[in-house]
Amino acid sequence: MSAKNWASVDVNTIPKIVTPLPGPKSQEYHTRAAKYMKGYSSQVRLFPVVFESGKGYVLKDVDGNEYIDFSSGIYVTGLGHCHPKISEAVAQYANTLMNCHDFTTEIKMKLVEKLHEITGGKFGGFQLYDSGTTAVEAGLRCARAATGKFEFISFWRDFHGKTLGSVSLAVVGADSHMRAPGFFLAPRPNPYRDAFGRSEEEAWKNSDLYISVLEKKIENETSGNVAAIVAEPIQGWGGSVVPPDDFMPKLRDLCNRKGILLFADEVLTCMGRSGKMFAMDHWNVTPDIMTLGKGFGNGFPVTAMCVSADLAPAIEKISASSSYGGNPMACAAALASIEVIEEENLVERSAHLGELFLKRMAEMKQRHPIIGDTRGKGCLLAMEIVKDRETKEPFVEAGQMIYQKAFSKGLAWVPSGHILRLSPPLILDDDVALKGLDIIEEAVAETEKHFGY
Ligand SMILES: Cc1ncc(COP(=O)(O)O)c(C=O)c1O
Repeated sequence: MSAKNWASVDVNTIPKIVTPLPGPKSQEYHTRAAKYMKGYSSQVRLFPVVFESGKGYVLKDVDGNEYIDFSSGIYVTGLGHCHPKISEAVAQYANTLMNCHDFTTEIKMKLVEKLHEITGGKFGGFQLYDSGTTAVEAGLRCARAATGKFEFISFWRDFHGKTLGSVSLAVVGADSHMRAPGFFLAPRPNPYRDAFGRSEEEAWKNSDLYISVLEKKIENETSGNVAAIVAEPIQGWGGSVVPPDDFMPKLRDLCNRKGILLFADEVLTCMGRSGKMFAMDHWNVTPDIMTLGKGFGNGFPVTAMCVSADLAPAIEKISASSSYGGNPMACAAALASIEVIEEENLVERSAHLGELFLKRMAEMKQRHPIIGDTRGKGCLLAMEIVKDRETKEPFVEAGQMIYQKAFSKGLAWVPSGHILRLSPPLILDDDVALKGLDIIEEAVAETEKHFGY
């Protein structure tokens, strides 16, 4: 399991810090760009480094500093930066055929056949897009076209993208006032912060209360025209929140009983990220609609909307053609990425890394009172920083400080207020994973000291 691969480096050589961070060139370039670029994420605002290159799990900035990558961009480059097979596949089409609208190409034919194979033959129709949010929009349109209904139910703290339909599925910051009518939100299981105030132990036992809230919502709030229930199998932005094992099967059952489609947004969780090829495989649940993104093209903007065989005729009604969706470079990137996952056994590797991370993070939690929770599956991981283990009050200042301290020691990762998110590439070597976790623990210890714990 710890066999070295094309991207392996000697653990003693990384991180490599040669300037105070962010370095002088980073500061200059970012200041110049930020004069015009507005709306940066907290990942950048809290640590405005300027990257120059990446290979495998090592990122290099413009000042020559090298970082261990626990971010994969933002859950994107799961197979590492610049995997030779993927880069060559994109380059081949960058040199032969860049775009031909939605005409069939040989590479598109091969990709959709492969997609049919890896989804176990369970999906009968695919459409290709260029971002997660456009694939989600297509899923919504497909649900409406297939059912003739127009309402949607989605979940607290799920995230689905930043166009109008996907924004309407979520409550995320300032965009939330843009939610369109006909979109309803329901609580979903988060055993660490159970919506019904139960203990964590009780909350893990079953999800019946959440299913019952959904039933009541359908009966009392909607007009009875719910086209689909849309869910992230495991919450990504929300902080790697894994539901109890009964939730997805019971959600499937509820949808069947009510004649509602189940739409799994796997944009973030697909392609081995959670230790299975698709996160719904953890519970053997097949959705009617599924969206894929991020790791699907390992960095090349290519996404997919997949529908069950029954719904395939319905998506004939919604046109899939777009300027970039399914262009030859995109198809080449996606096909090569799937092949790499298979050839390098990266789904198994992700599951193995998840066990290694969770064990080490649990040990960390025992030593550090501000770590309230550690959780995740595969390479989809998070820890919550709290002021007090009893009250679980979020400790945003400490979360931000831990993020910054670890970054300045050479670990690139992802903050989200008091939640620290880890999205390492699936190709990470064990010794490098442990080194990155040592850096996080140092940052936690220093932050605790700073705040007098
Ligand atoms: C579950 C999920 N769906 C959709 C999206 C939107 O994807 P994109 O940023 O490619 O539009 C994201 C992005 O983070 C996501 O996590």
